[in-house]
Amino acid sequence: MKKKYLIGNIKMNMSKESFIPYFEELKVLAEETQNVVGVCVPTVYLGLAQEKLQGSKVKYGAQNIYFENSGTFTGETSVHMIKDFNPDYCLVGHSERRAMFGETIEWTNKKIKKLLEVGITPILCFGETYQERFEENVTFEIVKNQLEGALEGLSKEEVKKIIFAYEPVWAISKGYGSADVSATSAQAEEMTAYSRKLICENFNLNDDEIIVLYGGSMKPTNAKELLSQKNIDGGLIGGACLKTADFKGVFELVID
Ligand code: PGA
Repeated sequence: MKKKYLIGNIKMNMSKESFIPYFEELKVLAEETQNVVGVCVPTVYLGLAQEKLQGSKVKYGAQNIYFENSGTFTGETSVHMIKDFNPDYCLVGHSERRAMFGETIEWTNKKIKKLLEVGITPILCFGETYQERFEENVTFEIVKNQLEGALEGLSKEEVKKIIFAYEPVWAISKGYGSADVSATSAQAEEMTAYSRKLICENFNLNDDEIIVLYGGSMKPTNAKELLSQKNIDGGLIGGACLKTADFKGVFELVID
């Protein structure tokens, strides 16, 4: 069976104190599976992640970088700074950064190039908003635009190194509480299949040469169906990764 990727996105949550036992639990999970276990932490905890996870089966990453090497960019972190902590991954283009912090498609392209320069795997998040899907009916155009813009000027070999994560904005952070929605497995499969085909056609790659994840309220009750879809190679998991029991619950569904 093809390996699945289960990567947590901690967002702006947790603390030094809570990360220490959390990393230990992740190490145990990772030992139990051939699948890939990873976690993207707030930048200030990358050192801790390195100390606790380097050399284990758990991959770890950052959630953002700025694309310049150094300079007058108060509050930002360069790719060389995060490289000091040897992360495997860094998220790029998460919808929260696009919507709240002005991350443009051009920036996603620059960030991907910087990460590839130093050998960190970019996890490129992309996806449409509620309005774009349900009111304007432009889902495919939006996804195409985000993907083609982010990948502009890259070689086939570089594109192969990226992990893609289709994350419909309307399905993010809706896994718990009253608004319990995620994309249906059919919607998620349709868009991951479309994205895979687009990327592979544009860069002359075979379908199985790229990794495409789904993200948006994945949790134990919907993960099995989502992860059994042909074009979904794994999940980028926010809310459920904070509850170790739920993160574990998702893993158990794909334990080989
Ligand atoms: P969610 O977050 O699982 O809480 O929807 C996913 C993400 O934003 O990456």
